[in-house]
Amino acid sequence: MAEVIIVTDPESAGALVADEIVSLLRRRPDAVLGLATGSTPLPVYRALQPRLAGVDVSRVRGFALDEYVGIDPAHPESYRSVISREVVEPLGLDPAFIRTPDGSDDGIEHAGEDYEAAIAAAGGIDLQILGIGTDGHIGFNEPGSSFASRTRVKTLTEQTRADNARFFDSIDDVPMHCITQGLGTILSARHLVLLAFGAEKAAAVAGAVEGPVSASLPGSAIQLHPHVTVVVDEAAASAL
Ligand code: GLP
Repeated sequence: MAEVIIVTDPESAGALVADEIVSLLRRRPDAVLGLATGSTPLPVYRALQPRLAGVDVSRVRGFALDEYVGIDPAHPESYRSVISREVVEPLGLDPAFIRTPDGSDDGIEHAGEDYEAAIAAAGGIDLQILGIGTDGHIGFNEPGSSFASRTRVKTLTEQTRADNARFFDSIDDVPMHCITQGLGTILSARHLVLLAFGAEKAAAVAGAVEGPVSASLPGSAIQLHPHVTVVVDEAAASAL
């Protein structure tokens, strides 16, 4: 059963998870972080910045959960750009140690297996930060994704494209495809930390934490993992 921590606001959640990450980095300066995008993890990254003053981060490694396919890596909303802007630069991480899946047309054929090989070569992910979509997706593993899946190309649902349209000029600019760590990849991380805020996430959180373990709500895969921390505000916890 996941440990569920209910906090008053996203800032408190960010502080709590940032403290956990700092204590991991003090134990293991070359720890491997699983980095999520979306708005949910931003309070964690913001809270990390002051806490990492005086901590040696030169050997921290990181793997993004997912990336859009067919978007210029330099596009401000590519997850490569987002991770660079929100995590790598403010925290002073070495960009050479932080990877995103290769969503470019040239790299896409082998991108999934290359990414899995890179994660394995790093020794696996120590702490995976996760958000959750309103339909229960984690990473970009939409409903119906196999619990055994590894990093691969997927088609985005209309719901997720609509949810993410706020980051683009219009929904037509939201890519149709993505490359995402699979549910099997996510379950291989040693510690999962799932965050969610707001009433629109309440059903997905309840399904993930205590609903049936089912591919129709991919976040429910976390129930198969022995070390999960769920950090939610009261609104996101309201259906638990
Ligand atoms: C995207 C990301 C997910 C994220 C989800 C929720 O689809 N691929 O990793 O969890 O959005 O986004 P937000 O945190 O902005 O609600």
